[in-house]
Amino acid sequence: MPAYVIVGMQWGDEGKGKIVDYLTKYAEIVVRHQGGNNAGHTVVVDGKQSILHLIPSGILHEGIVCIVGNGTVLDPAVVIDELDSLNAAGYATAGRLFFSDCAHVIMPYHKALDKAQERFRGKNRIGTTGRGIGPCYADKADRMGIRMGDLVNEAVFKEKLGAILEYKNGVLEKVLGETPLQFDEVFDEYRGYAGQLRPYVADAVKLVHDAVAADRRIIFEGAQGAMLDLDHGTYPYVTSSTTVSGGVCAGAGVGPTNVDGVIGIVKAYTTRVGEGPFPTELTDQVGEQLRREGNEFGATTGRPRRCGWFDAIQLRRAARLNGMTAIVMTKPDVLSIVDPIRICTAYNINGSVTHDFPTSLEALENAVPVYEDMPGWNEDISACRTWDDLPEKAQRYFERIEELLGVPVCTISVGPGREQTIERIDPFSISACGTMRGMTPEPA
Ligand code: GDP
Ligand code: IMO
Ligand code: MG
Repeated sequence: MPAYVIVGMQWGDEGKGKIVDYLTKYAEIVVRHQGGNNAGHTVVVDGKQSILHLIPSGILHEGIVCIVGNGTVLDPAVVIDELDSLNAAGYATAGRLFFSDCAHVIMPYHKALDKAQERFRGKNRIGTTGRGIGPCYADKADRMGIRMGDLVNEAVFKEKLGAILEYKNGVLEKVLGETPLQFDEVFDEYRGYAGQLRPYVADAVKLVHDAVAADRRIIFEGAQGAMLDLDHGTYPYVTSSTTVSGGVCAGAGVGPTNVDGVIGIVKAYTTRVGEGPFPTELTDQVGEQLRREGNEFGATTGRPRRCGWFDAIQLRRAARLNGMTAIVMTKPDVLSIVDPIRICTAYNINGSVTHDFPTSLEALENAVPVYEDMPGWNEDISACRTWDDLPEKAQRYFERIEELLGVPVCTISVGPGREQTIERIDPFSISACGTMRGMTPEPA
């Protein structure tokens, strides 16, 4: 170590929460730098499941400092709920959890606008989580946001809310035909939240800088996944933040030189929740089996996740977008029920075969996957704890993925539990410097 980014390489829900929790034993500080409570990160410790939406997944380790950075968007009611459930479960948060004073606050009009915009989009809806994420980031870019530092300063909050609400009510009422919000109600509600959150609000950028200067071991916990990135994902079917590893720099306030490596969380098959293109989607019985066996239902909204085969074309794109230095493979245990196991190694788009992930949505919608079949291992692997415990056919699957992506599979997760993890190569031993330039992936 000291500073590694952990990011999702597909369309989210790769198992980032489980892996951040697992790897936190090697860290001192865990930082969330983007996204909001659209995320749902599941951690299972001693059979007990916790779902974290905003607070870093390192919080379940005693004494670990957790920071929620300036690049995030915070819904105070959700934050307080999460704090309450953690405290009730015996996890102390005071003095070791900090929310950036520059993080933007999700307001009631953001949630109302999110829902109204989805209705307006009709058949072109994005399938957002309805948590107000897009409108909050839009206000940030529009310089009309309220930040945590504003929220906890009552006079500043009152003034900003008054001016902004007048404008937002105009949009809600006159443009979208929605009910306007009452100033007093919003002000009183949020003043209450401010009272509870004030002790946690801090200059998070300085905290991160101090940690970097002291050579502390830091994990940056990504939310969502590469294909949901605002610039690089399947736009407009994306979220509104920078989900690729580069987002750490702006969202936590560090330079690229402060990041030592990028650990990509890669699910052994693919899932997506919400609308948008998904070339390897399985709408048949196999997709259904993967959903059932993998318990693929949204941790935030409970929606069934769309399931499909592993897509090496999508992942090669993600590997480069993120500068991925190590792969953590999750959920191969789910594949024990399928044989053969398919890997997409090319797309056929309107009759021409390509190994590149298209940037055009139309091309992606027309992409027909070209598959390579691998033999299934047909046995339960959830009790494996070392590489040698794994059936040879599973080892071959991971090795083939390494060849296709040009990045080593360092850690393998074989179940939701913290202990269901195989350490093969230390992902923190691989430094970003030169790795991606040195390893040439085999042409698919
Ligand atoms: P995240 O958003 O990337 O943190 O992922 P989610 O928590 O939304 O979804 C991952 C789901 O898979 C959760 O229910 C996890 O408990 C579960 N999970 C994580 N790793 C594994 C694994 O290796 N095998 C199985 N079977 N489940 C896993
Ligand atoms: P984690 O961190 C999976 C998806 C939504 C929708 C799109 C835009 O748990 O992997 P938004 O509410 O962000 O404006 O919705 O992004 N989405 C996710 N899908 N996992 C997530 O987070 C997601 N966060 C947002 O389903 O398609
Ligand atoms: Mg999730």
